[in-house]
Amino acid sequence: MQTSSIHGMWSSRLAFILAATGSAVGLGNIWRFPYITSENGGGAFVLIYLLCILAVGLPIMFSEIVIGRRGRMSPINSIRELSDDAKATRAWMGLGFLGVIAGFIILSFYSVVAGWTLHYGFAYLKELVGMGAPITDPGETFENLLASAGELTFWHGLFMLMTVGVVAFGVEKGLERAVTILMPLLFVLLLILLGYGMNTGSFQEAVGFLFRPDWSQVSGPMIVTAMGQAFFTLSLGMCAIMTYGAYLPSDVNIPKVGTTVAISDTVVALIAGLAIFPIVISFGIDPGSGGAGLIFTSLPLAFSEMPFGIAYGMAFFLLLSVAAWTSAISLMEPATAYLVEATDLSRKAAALCVAAFAWMLGLATVFSFNIWSEVSIGGKSIMDALDYVAADVMLPIGGLLTALFAGWVLSKKITREELDEKMPDWAFNAWLWLTRIVTPALILVVLASLLGIL
Ligand code: TRP
Repeated sequence: MQTSSIHGMWSSRLAFILAATGSAVGLGNIWRFPYITSENGGGAFVLIYLLCILAVGLPIMFSEIVIGRRGRMSPINSIRELSDDAKATRAWMGLGFLGVIAGFIILSFYSVVAGWTLHYGFAYLKELVGMGAPITDPGETFENLLASAGELTFWHGLFMLMTVGVVAFGVEKGLERAVTILMPLLFVLLLILLGYGMNTGSFQEAVGFLFRPDWSQVSGPMIVTAMGQAFFTLSLGMCAIMTYGAYLPSDVNIPKVGTTVAISDTVVALIAGLAIFPIVISFGIDPGSGGAGLIFTSLPLAFSEMPFGIAYGMAFFLLLSVAAWTSAISLMEPATAYLVEATDLSRKAAALCVAAFAWMLGLATVFSFNIWSEVSIGGKSIMDALDYVAADVMLPIGGLLTALFAGWVLSKKITREELDEKMPDWAFNAWLWLTRIVTPALILVVLASLLGIL
């Protein structure tokens, strides 16, 4: 059994939890969750999403960490080694390649949206020091930003540079600091926003929208979206958590850390929803009106009313950029680790290649809001199409393969050793049969509805 990785190791159990939580908590919780919940009618969508976290997300979270820690290399090479050891076909490496491609696609648009949050953070900073105009009409401000390909490209580029900086210069130091100090601070700001939301008079209505299921809203595409969100928000299905698992010390209990990460991520998403929807409703916005601009067009309305709203808005958007940053790092790490293993490139050069490529791909998202806004792929804008293919289709396929690999290819002896040798039989068997049968079957059923079979 390999006890360390050539790419470095997390210094402790806590370091892994922070890094994996840093990966999971990001724009997926605070930007994507509210806006797709809005587009999918609220309550029923949220409940199906929570169900997917439990029945699909958790077993796959354990599986990814198990495969990563056993392999101790980039996902592609870990899977190759483990397949060889098990005398299984090397075709399983396809899972690693699929992950790298999904990672590129997600990173490309993720960085553009993270660029929006940077832009807002700096806009509030400028206003605070008296150098910028206040946001009086958030809808118009947001539209103006999207219309400017130059602005979008700049912020997208800045964010990509920040990300490559950390990946190139060593994951542990920069990352651990960002997640131990800045992420808890973002959580505090979310709680303050929650307090504000509770006082708007629309809190009850928001709770109803988020948790009272209207089952007539349920449809095949809606379930696909809910499952895609479960994968996206937990960073699963593209071997990112697997990569982090490769740097996890051998004595750490995988079920415990995996569950901690999943619970923290879910709590942050729910609090974000409970904080944002009262604001949306109280300012007269239809909670079902959706759109990727939801938080950017609604939250500034509240910030313009709150005491210290400008400083608060600045802190909120800058800290959200930090949360996005710790997530983007995990999108870049699998491809970088693979390039380091497979080529002569140094870590720095490998990370730069990955970033340059993802940045270029991101230009397609940038242009989808302005010069290419007419382009439609199956009725979706370029960004929506990229998001859909990567998050709702590729991540579940990656997750399906991950579960099958951990459940059927790895021996029970190996998985038990990695998960927790002292685990009671019933708990191990529950994980095993979920991973072997239940989780893959659920994913297949949901994906089948994509093909119009159901
Ligand atoms: N989970 C992150 C978020 O919610 C995004 C992310 C990071 C991700 N790494 C990933 C999504 C890997 C899918 C796969 O913002």
